[in-house]
Amino acid sequence: MRVLGIETSCDETSIAIYDEYQGLMAHQIHSQVLLHAKYGGIVPELASRDHVQQLIPLLKLTLKEANITTSSIQGIAYTQGPGLVGALLVGSTFAKALSYAWQIPILGIHHMEGHLLAALLDKPALQFPFIALLISGGHSLLIKVQKLGDYKVLGDTLDDAVGEAFDKTAKLLHMTYPGGPEIEKLAKQGNPERYKFPRPLTEIQNLDFSFSGLKTFASNTFKNSKQDDYIKADIARAFQDAVIETLSIKCQWALSQTKLTRVIVAGGVCVNQTLRLALKKTIELQNATIYYPRPELCTDNGAMIAYAGFLRLKQGQRDLDLKVRVFPRWSISDLKSIDNLVND
Ligand code: KG4
Ligand code: ZN
Repeated sequence: MRVLGIETSCDETSIAIYDEYQGLMAHQIHSQVLLHAKYGGIVPELASRDHVQQLIPLLKLTLKEANITTSSIQGIAYTQGPGLVGALLVGSTFAKALSYAWQIPILGIHHMEGHLLAALLDKPALQFPFIALLISGGHSLLIKVQKLGDYKVLGDTLDDAVGEAFDKTAKLLHMTYPGGPEIEKLAKQGNPERYKFPRPLTEIQNLDFSFSGLKTFASNTFKNSKQDDYIKADIARAFQDAVIETLSIKCQWALSQTKLTRVIVAGGVCVNQTLRLALKKTIELQNATIYYPRPELCTDNGAMIAYAGFLRLKQGQRDLDLKVRVFPRWSISDLKSIDNLVND
């Protein structure tokens, strides 16, 4: 089966083609970072308008890259939520129009399920069950993944998601948007001994995440300092160390509570190389194995949507009509495993 995947939940427009036998045949991503950078964050209306402009040229590029005609595509997958409502509506409407024109099945995909399955795209032999740590701009989640669609949330975001905390901390240190990569770069020059930030919600074995206090801690530390470039680097380092250690502790707890031995980490924040190395070290010390998608499949992308769509469409799941319905807020635990599906 060959599936076209369309991602427009936030500030990346991305289209990909996944083929059952050939794997990822084409993958195009258009990032809106420059469009939003001057506002210091994402402007939802600008995001929607840009998706409208990018989708058709991007589809043409993707088809050209795969060197195929539209008649060989057998299914369409699109991000149905969670995300920005306008952005989701643009992608869903485009996907439904293609499904009607090409007369092929279509299926809405949960964006976080896409992230969760991205590591399997490169390693289809990777076995269920496993723990998934999803760390993106909108979510911090620890999930026990029993099989496709069977997701038990062990820990959730109580306030700012990890990526959001990176972005907000970067902003208060006067860095450009998105802040995650900027903090990572600056932290490399920071002195790890100057400041010690708290490891939030680690006093008791609680798997939820609360990162907004770290941002406030960074803000107060900065205000009470000389506010020079050295201090900024030291704060970036202390903030990043605190995030990484907190995530490591929670992953270890999740492994011991569930007695599982595999962890998949995904979402935009796991592009961070320092985090990748540190988590790998802790997880391996616990005799478990860690898997990451390659960096371009960590941030938002159409490949993960095409792949999740392939797995589900292949099992016969599909949207039953061409009505456009999106779910800007949608918990991953609402998904059903394939064998429990009543096709609704
Ligand atoms: O998964 P993603 O592309 O979009 C969402 O679904 O939210 O994640 C974007 C987030 C942003 O908050 C960005 O700052 C963060 O991922 N990010 C990073 C790094 N690269 C991207 N955070 C820390 N270090 C990085 N190198
Ligand atoms: Zn995402």
